Amino acid sequence: MEILQRLLTATQVWEEAARFIRLFHRENPQAGDPGERLAAVREELAETGTYRHTAEELAHGARVAWRNSNRCIGRLYWNSLRVRDRRELTSGEDIAAECFEHLREATNGGRIRPTITVFAPDAPDRPGPVVWSEQLIRYAGYGDHPSVTVGDPRNRELTGALRERGWPGGPGTPFDLLPLVVQGSDDKPRWFDVPPDAVLEVPIEHPDHDHWSDWGLRWHAVPAISNMCLEIGGIHYPAAPFNGWYMGTEIGARNLGDTDRYNLLPVVARRMGLDTSSDRSLWKDRALVELNRAVLHSFDRAGVTIADHHTESRRFLSHMEREERRGRQVGADWSWIVPPISGSACPVFHRTYQDRQESPAYVHHPGAGDRARGRNLV
Ligand code: ARG
Repeated sequence: MEILQRLLTATQVWEEAARFIRLFHRENPQAGDPGERLAAVREELAETGTYRHTAEELAHGARVAWRNSNRCIGRLYWNSLRVRDRRELTSGEDIAAECFEHLREATNGGRIRPTITVFAPDAPDRPGPVVWSEQLIRYAGYGDHPSVTVGDPRNRELTGALRERGWPGGPGTPFDLLPLVVQGSDDKPRWFDVPPDAVLEVPIEHPDHDHWSDWGLRWHAVPAISNMCLEIGGIHYPAAPFNGWYMGTEIGARNLGDTDRYNLLPVVARRMGLDTSSDRSLWKDRALVELNRAVLHSFDRAGVTIADHHTESRRFLSHMEREERRGRQVGADWSWIVPPISGSACPVFHRTYQDRQESPAYVHHPGAGDRARGRNLV
């Protein structure tokens, strides 16, 4: 049943298309009355089974899909997303090369620019290309269990699948960059080394404790989600990697702190000389705060854009107000919006939200998770 989601009937495509074209014209009055465009889309659909968005429709659709991302706290700037239109590209090589160029442009020397690159859509006779990697930048995870893994346990299966397909492996540090796995429209999945000049990384140091710098902790500057499908008006763009900038807690609380990720709280506590014999010393809480201070401090020192959860919470509430003034309801998923540390100290905690999914949207297609984790990498 889930699989069918991806295959819309001709009527469904037309209904979705018409709804999107009306939204586009409503929100872009300079584009005039939608009547003519609706007729053209209807005819194109009848003739070819699909239709092509104008560059303006594509850009607006990608931005509105961000606006509709109920799990994202960072939506205040949805309308300034930079859209790279690469719909003509379908081959693995071309897509990998443009993903790397995306990283360079989005990184922008540290002044991160929210950016999306849109590749060819699914067509009736030809599937669009797919990026199997969950993000453009991922660290390898070596080992068969999270507790013995060197690197990021989240990427163990992808790392294993890459090894099976001939990737020689990295130097074996906790932060080895994984190649990008891309499947072109008429191809099998293939991997491409990410050029070092496309990846900016930040060494993590602590503002008060010098010895943190010898530890070798680091994280990459740009979070670029690459395995979600962009759906606009009945058209599916399976390869459409996008990035914003990080909020510190994503790295300091989740990536470095979660027990099934880098699991660093016990190590931080030991370095800080905390009493770990009882949960009631709140050593985990104290370690979390210092790890998060270190992340924010390090990104600031390196001149790399990063948000803190207090600022981002306030921005999110401004976003809601602004949208409501424009007559639009903002959907949100409380469990994702509230930051993983100090929830109740952030204004987003103290209210409820409607979690209704609007379109356009970024969606996880069924099976994409399995494939991203490395199964099906034939
Ligand atoms: N949480 C993910 C990570 O830590 C990134 C998700 C997108 N985040 C963002 N700030 N745009 O890598």
